Amino acid sequence: MASVKFENVIKTFGETKVIKGVNIDIQEGELIVFVGPSGCGKSTLLRMLAGLEDVSEGNIYIGDTVVNKVPSKDRNIAMVFQNYALYPHMTVEENMGFGLKLRGVSKEERKAAVEKAAKILGIEQLLKRKPRALSGGQRQRVAMGRAIVRDPDVFLMDEPLSNLDAKLRTKMRVEIRKLQHGLKTTMIYVTHDQVEAMTLADKIAVLDGGYVQQFGTPNELYHKPANRFVAGFLGSPTINFIVCKRSGDHFTLPDGQTFSIPESRMSNTAQDIELAIRPKYIDIVENEASPDTPNIIRWKSKVNLVEALGGETLVYVHLGDQDIIVKLTDKDDIEEGSTVELAFNLDNAHIFDLSNGNIISHGVNPHDSNSIES
Ligand SMILES: Nc1ncnc2c1ncn2[C@@H]1O[C@H](COP(=O)(O)OP(=O)(O)O)[C@@H](O)[C@H]1O
Ligand SMILES: [Mg+2]
Repeated sequence: MASVKFENVIKTFGETKVIKGVNIDIQEGELIVFVGPSGCGKSTLLRMLAGLEDVSEGNIYIGDTVVNKVPSKDRNIAMVFQNYALYPHMTVEENMGFGLKLRGVSKEERKAAVEKAAKILGIEQLLKRKPRALSGGQRQRVAMGRAIVRDPDVFLMDEPLSNLDAKLRTKMRVEIRKLQHGLKTTMIYVTHDQVEAMTLADKIAVLDGGYVQQFGTPNELYHKPANRFVAGFLGSPTINFIVCKRSGDHFTLPDGQTFSIPESRMSNTAQDIELAIRPKYIDIVENEASPDTPNIIRWKSKVNLVEALGGETLVYVHLGDQDIIVKLTDKDDIEEGSTVELAFNLDNAHIFDLSNGNIISHGVNPHDSNSIES
């Protein structure tokens, strides 16, 4: 295993700058997820690390070595893609051993390496089969087996589960995490799926617009997002953003109500702001007579839609002209079309600068600070 470092990495295709200056420091043995919308450059970063794409500017290190000019085959990296084509005419055993064969590894050593990897993945009984006699999940395991037999310094996985159905994806996700923890080999895993990122990663790099928007543990990113993009990208249902206009000491909500923000939580330079509040931190208030509490934002709305998901209920309401989603876990009797009173505590809302999306101050998590909700 090895550490990996991206240092001021830039990538241009023709006239287009896709990666605009990326810095990421990955320690030996970490499982890192690159997540971001489609087209943000995740695959390009992996391909540069694998040596399949030139670096336009900056340096990529594996261990202490700058590998910009090191040929792909000399980088000791194993990559699993979304389209992990297996050779149809070869057995699982031959598929898994093929890379070693090309490198001139002896038959005995190949057999031993393949058997060891097959055992790790629980596919020993499939070694004599051809790919067409395997399920999607089994084929995926063979593709990973092909990577494991090489005993690489770094595993690169580019959306390897995208072709599997949702249930299998969840199962394979758990297996990949267990596998990586067992092997302790540095792994970089690319996905556009934030739930996959949150559940798999030791640390996540959120990419957008050619930059790393934030790099940290799932908990840090979820509870302390550096900007509006990260807050909106992680978490389901999506965090609610509420635009508030500033006039002096006061802020105006979309429904015309005004409120103030404690000085310690505001910057003097920011003008208009966005409050960002997770759906689970908004509640439906049953007791209309309860007195106003400082820092509590309250309003009434018609219930536009209710989605009962069993353990939780999503209630779609609005605040002025802004749509708001509320997630309830303790009430399931809210009726569509009825009018409800809603409330959240300002202390639980992040405050972003509307002009640039940067964080002004983080809200506090009212629940267990170690909890991650997807
Ligand atoms: N060989 C290439 N030539 C030109 N543009 C490319 C090439 N490869 C990728 N791109 C562009 O670079 C951007 C990032 O692509 P990619 O890294 O595949 O994104 P992601 O994996 O995050 O979906 C996209 O806009 C894509 O069209
Ligand atoms: Mg990609």
